[in-house]
Amino acid sequence: MTGEQIRATLKKYSLQSWSKQKDINPISVKEAEGIYFWDYDGNRYSDMSSQLVNMNLGFGNKQIGDAIKAQVDQYCFVGPGYGAQSRAKLAKKIVELMPDNIGKVFFTNAGAEANENAVKMARIVTGRHKVMSRYRSYHGASFGAGNLTGEPRRFALEPGIPGFVKFFDPYVYREAIRFETEEAATAYYLEKLEEQIRYEGKDAIAAIVLETITGSNGVIIPPQGYLPGAKALCEKYGIIMICDEVMTGWCRTGKMFGFENFDIEPDIVTFAKGVTCGYVPLGGVAVSKEIAAYFDDKLLSCGLTYSGHPLGCAAGVACIEYYEEANILENVARSGKALGEQLERLKNEHPCVGDVRYIGLFSAVELVKDKETREALVPYGEDPSGVMKSILGMLKERRFMTYTHENIIIVAPPLTITEKQIAEEIAKLDEVLGVVDKEYI
Ligand SMILES: Cc1ncc(COP(=O)(O)O)c(C=O)c1O
Repeated sequence: MTGEQIRATLKKYSLQSWSKQKDINPISVKEAEGIYFWDYDGNRYSDMSSQLVNMNLGFGNKQIGDAIKAQVDQYCFVGPGYGAQSRAKLAKKIVELMPDNIGKVFFTNAGAEANENAVKMARIVTGRHKVMSRYRSYHGASFGAGNLTGEPRRFALEPGIPGFVKFFDPYVYREAIRFETEEAATAYYLEKLEEQIRYEGKDAIAAIVLETITGSNGVIIPPQGYLPGAKALCEKYGIIMICDEVMTGWCRTGKMFGFENFDIEPDIVTFAKGVTCGYVPLGGVAVSKEIAAYFDDKLLSCGLTYSGHPLGCAAGVACIEYYEEANILENVARSGKALGEQLERLKNEHPCVGDVRYIGLFSAVELVKDKETREALVPYGEDPSGVMKSILGMLKERRFMTYTHENIIIVAPPLTITEKQIAEEIAKLDEVLGVVDKEYI
């Protein structure tokens, strides 16, 4: 097929996620290597969002490909009740990478299912039914995970599941109150959270689900002390803390898992994306020893045909080995520092940049009409004149590929990116922000 034939066939026969179908116009990808991919006309694009913040090791990693091929040669599949070596190896590796309190892993196909199963386990173990999650969150698109999700992508599922309660995020930049210190912000948000726990009925809440660092909704990094404080509240009220590490896991934030930046030990960790870097889909739920022990003599009422798919697990083992052997965390520290410096420069130089937030190679550029008032470039949940779409279009013209959410541009390149590549790519973003300064604010 030609690139045009692929595009036309997809437009005619397939439905694309989160899109008005008449608007879709997929780039047909012919080749891909490292942080780049090429279309059928030979144009090179830079992947500045690691696709959906999942291809942490970029395209064309031979070690992962070889591990998948070796598993294909042994066998592609045996059911979850059989012993597959890649499944055993991956479960052990993941538990060893997690904090000491974590005991076992339940594998899923991807992130939404991981969250679904985490909530199910928390409800079974606690005998409670309510689940709290935040407004500015994305936890997946399936029915349960979509109900955990707080942002507008949950609306199509409403009226939602009874007992799924939302609370506010520690989104300090966009808060009406100006806090003197991070600690003051933390105290405010934790007090509100505790109040809400009591209003909801402290004995009814099974779990609090949080993206350790909010991802798609704007890389919202919690203020100092917030996560340990939330964990303390969970302990006080017998609530299970579920950290959604689907995006923040696997070296993305400069640590193997995002929660390591905040010195907490979650009761449950959900993961997907970077565990296999998208080479084969896989996700999972890592649970505390206590929760694992609960299921020693109680039924684990969870199951999937493809739980622990041998190909996914083989890819997972290869990814983890690569993260470790290639010292990916060192590159994240080096390139992440370069990215942070560039983003700070953009914030200083462009009136349209209200805030930049970054940790490791996970970052967001928040666009505003006015730096002083912090008025967002587009109002929440609305972009009637397609401003953000135009901005994305200008980035695409420069072959800088990423996605936006509300008034925010996500920059989260593969973790193998070099400092030189960061400088080359940010120069493109710089140019586009110059146009936004002149034409959109
Ligand atoms: C934080 C978070 N949780 C869950 C999910 C859902 O994962 P999946 O699309 O693999 O089901 C995503 C996807 O973007 C995510 O960012």
